[in-house]
Amino acid sequence: MIRNELVDSFGRVHDYLRISVTDRCNLRCVYCMPAEGMEFEPDENILSFEEITEVVRVLAEMGVKKVRLTGGEPLVRKGIENLVRSLSAIPGIEDIALTTNGIFLARKAATLKEAGVNRVNISLDTLKADRFSLITRGGDVQRVLDSIAACQQVGIDPIKLNVVLMKGINDDEIDDFLRLTIDSSLQVRFIEYMPIGHNDMRWKQSYLPLSAVLERCEQMEWKVEESKNVRGNGPAQTFRIAGAKGSFGLIHPVSDHFCETCNRLRLTADGNIKPCLYWSDEFNVRKHIGNDEAVRELFFRALRIKPRNHEMAKALVGEGQSHVPTVRRMSQIGG
Ligand code: 5AD
Ligand code: SF4
Repeated sequence: MIRNELVDSFGRVHDYLRISVTDRCNLRCVYCMPAEGMEFEPDENILSFEEITEVVRVLAEMGVKKVRLTGGEPLVRKGIENLVRSLSAIPGIEDIALTTNGIFLARKAATLKEAGVNRVNISLDTLKADRFSLITRGGDVQRVLDSIAACQQVGIDPIKLNVVLMKGINDDEIDDFLRLTIDSSLQVRFIEYMPIGHNDMRWKQSYLPLSAVLERCEQMEWKVEESKNVRGNGPAQTFRIAGAKGSFGLIHPVSDHFCETCNRLRLTADGNIKPCLYWSDEFNVRKHIGNDEAVRELFFRALRIKPRNHEMAKALVGEGQSHVPTVRRMSQIGG
């Protein structure tokens, strides 16, 4: 049994690493990237699969059990299944997850499952084709729906759908997403729109607290139970409509702190450890890869300065914050 050494100054134990494998994406979701002019890291700045595997090997010896591959869009990285294979061979890594926009997933689902992916989160903010194309700036929703079907077919479980709720943009689809959980074992996770690395005004106009979801359930007279035992639900509060096959989760980073139980560290595609999603503090691990002691020491340093919480709510009311928010966009962090 490996002793977990990844404890921060608030006693939070870290056993989960989110790895952004690329800052590139085939879509341009309005809340994540600008329509044009996004600058990407040159290839030579991006960690190779070997480098990522080395970092994870060291972390697994320190107690990390779960990794999630994100992007940008992780499936634009060629041969991603090879990375999955290397990571699943590391002793101590028990769980490999993927967060994807689902466009390229249908044809990869079987290979990824066979390589070791046991759960996927698919971003899907609307079920309407025209609206999907607007939000993602050109994406085809049918491809995402086909990917969900492909994952169900190859037995990837759980399949979670990430829905970023935005006022006046997709808040009229709350019931449609909830209905999906009644008839299938899908888990729908509503996520509050976060003020990360983009136009402040747009965020304030579109931000909607997730209390809207439970209010909608009341209006629909759906009986809702809070469920305690959903595997890997992380910061989500999880619910089930009485009699439903699936469930739904609320991830409210802004209106309600989800930091207290934070167990995650992040690694950016260019090799920076981010102790917190929101703040700018980063530690470049790349130059230390190959020197396990130095890699360990850098993670300890990152944990020592990990703040108690992110104070995103202060951005909503324009209050001063205690640290400096990151200038990275969500596509460069991976959620
Ligand atoms: N607020 C909330 N969620 C976001 N995501 C991307 N940008 C934001 C934002 N500003 C989501 C994506 C994806 C996940 C990784 O993060 O939709 O599902
Ligand atoms: Fe790409 Fe995901 Fe960002 Fe959309 S949210 S642009 S799919 S990285």
